[in-house]
Amino acid sequence: MPNTPIKVAVSGAAGQIAYALLFRLAQGDVFGPETPIDLRLLDLPQALPALKGVTMELDDCAFPLLTAIRTTDDPRVAFDDIDAAFLVGSRPRSKGMERRDLLAANAAIFKTQGAALDAVAKRSVKVLVVGNPANTNAWVAIQSAPNLPEGAITSMIRLDHNRAAAQLARKAGVSVDAIDHLAVWGNHSPTMFTDWSHASVSGERLAARIGDDGWYRDTLIPEVARRGTAVLEARGASSAASAANAAIDHMRDWVQGSDGRWVSMGIPATGEYGIPAGLVCGVPAVCRDGRYAPVNSLDLDVFTRAGLAASVQELIGERDAALSIVST
Ligand code: NAD
Ligand code: LMR
Repeated sequence: MPNTPIKVAVSGAAGQIAYALLFRLAQGDVFGPETPIDLRLLDLPQALPALKGVTMELDDCAFPLLTAIRTTDDPRVAFDDIDAAFLVGSRPRSKGMERRDLLAANAAIFKTQGAALDAVAKRSVKVLVVGNPANTNAWVAIQSAPNLPEGAITSMIRLDHNRAAAQLARKAGVSVDAIDHLAVWGNHSPTMFTDWSHASVSGERLAARIGDDGWYRDTLIPEVARRGTAVLEARGASSAASAANAAIDHMRDWVQGSDGRWVSMGIPATGEYGIPAGLVCGVPAVCRDGRYAPVNSLDLDVFTRAGLAASVQELIGERDAALSIVST
């Protein structure tokens, strides 16, 4: 094997999303078929027996690229010298738990994990936060990792982007690949805003091709926003395979490039579009040479600006609720 193994941590490794993610990672779906991979699997102490079963299955796949697997309940061990991390594990909402309590529980987790990344990860590490509330968890981790370069820690809104792309492709009767310049803005929550105002299909405006603004406003936007809940109700469990697939898409494009295409990513805002600088917010971005760049200077119409502003307000509220945890 010619290349040095890439070290990749996955938290929540005994959970549902990780079960759909780890095998594809070990197969080369993110870092490519030439890159050996050394997996660091992090979970809570009580989940380590189940995690042992996952590692047995990974072994039994005999993946040629998988050079090592280490399991641990210690973030500093999991993140030691890593190149990439998928932070999937988080505290789910339990019965009677207020949203504020959920934010606080997760802020404590991501404060610890951000500090561990800051202490031991490679300075070039790429981190994707999947665990909800993903944007604010990422914001907390960033506050606790002041020595990592700006932009090292991102959050996932790609599942929402993929959900919107699939519905648009079906409505327009085109392949998903034909759609570009689609954006999902804001928080990964029901306030997220799907924006087709710049979307194109083979050089033509997608909105003109579909020609049904009512469907966009009254069906597409709310259905994408509620899709997670709809899957949860239908399956009796939250999205796992599609979430893992979106995590793979996000990290693969970040590492390998998006070929000039727009992708939606939760990234620390630069102050563009009225989003307060530093807030982790879904925006359109293009990835090249292992870096992402937000698509700036777009002309947003009044409807889009209002949708984005509502989601940003929610993110500001979440950030302020998490602030007391970060500063103690
Ligand atoms: P799950 O309950 O099956 O697994 C979660 C795992 O995380 C468990 O093994 C648990 O022990 C572990 N965990 C909890 N706290 C931890 C900690 N402090 N350190 C390490 N591990 C920890 O859940 P799942 O279905 O895999 O979902 C994981 C998260 O992803 C949830 O928060 C879910 O809401 C979120 N999610 C996000 C998106 C998105 O688009 N951003 C989409 C789907 C799901
Ligand atoms: C999703 O969008 O499917 C998930 O974020 C839903 C959830 O609450 O886990």
